[in-house]
Amino acid sequence: MKSPPVVAIVGATGAVGVEFLRCLEERHFPVAELSLLASARSVGKELTFRGVKHKVAELTEASFEGVDLALFSAGGSISKKFGPIAAKAGAIVVDNSSAFRMAPDVPLVVPEINPQAARQHKGIIANPNCSTIIAIVPLWPIHKVNPIRRLLAATYQAASGAGAAAMQELLDSTRASLEGREHKHTVLPHPYAFNLFSHNSSVDPQTLYNEEEIKMTRETRKIFGDDAIRISATCVRVPVLRAHCEALTIECDRPITPAQVHALLAKAPGVRIVDDTGRNYFPMPKDAAGQGDVLVGRIRQDISDPSGKSIAMFVAGDQLLKGAALNAVQIAELLLK
Ligand code: A2P
Repeated sequence: MKSPPVVAIVGATGAVGVEFLRCLEERHFPVAELSLLASARSVGKELTFRGVKHKVAELTEASFEGVDLALFSAGGSISKKFGPIAAKAGAIVVDNSSAFRMAPDVPLVVPEINPQAARQHKGIIANPNCSTIIAIVPLWPIHKVNPIRRLLAATYQAASGAGAAAMQELLDSTRASLEGREHKHTVLPHPYAFNLFSHNSSVDPQTLYNEEEIKMTRETRKIFGDDAIRISATCVRVPVLRAHCEALTIECDRPITPAQVHALLAKAPGVRIVDDTGRNYFPMPKDAAGQGDVLVGRIRQDISDPSGKSIAMFVAGDQLLKGAALNAVQIAELLLK
């Protein structure tokens, strides 16, 4: 990729879009020119990048002339339509949607895990699902030395995963609830304030797993390059504004101890251990939000497995950063090298 590249952000006004800008800025990513794209509703809005105001333009088929890098986060249907158009115009697309993740010729990349895959792109690179990334960044260092045979995951997913409008719905419904007012939910399928519900993606009638759970299974296998891992996930939306938590239980090939996991994760990139048993202080969305590491704690033997091969842990990661914008910008950084 040409450096410094001409960068386009598709979905610049969205929850992830504004984090793209923040990550590019904070990580001193070289940018020759910046183009901010969104729907016609946002034309004329201004966003600041490196102290300079940029006007948002409407996304059209002509938006990608001269663009070297296009960061997409405007939903799957926009990616499906405009991703190939951007790639054909010569841009490298890093796509945050699920549109291309499982396509055999599209690399699905977490830079701490499979950076080499990014090099095999044919114009489009996919950014994995947020719950997948947050689970597998800390699991990879374990998998490399003692392969994970089985993963059980339960997620506690924030509003941010459903976009800026869902975050606003959580705020509005909570305020209404505290003031004793009625609130009509329009973004998420159920009342959100002081409630939680099974992830708002559709449920497959055959397997009875929802789309988010299926993504976690398929994407983990693709990124690890290991189709044999047995995975079962339960994905739940909780009334937290930003940052997902997950309870993870793994069964490894050989016996493993919490001390071994601590030692592996202490030196793992993108991971921070937060495991203070004395103070009962473990990963929380409040601490995960706004920073790039996956926080890991509650690292303990799974005592339901007498073979000693199983470990339980609890993780938290910022869905908008490592789960989306940060991972995408890290992928783009691989292309500069
Ligand atoms: P807009 O703000 O103009 O609606 P989020 O994930 O937070 O819901 O954000 C979605 C992003 O995708 C927003 O930037 C939104 O722009 C953008 N988007 C939604 N629909 C379109 C569309 N038809 N064309 C271009 N951008 C779109």
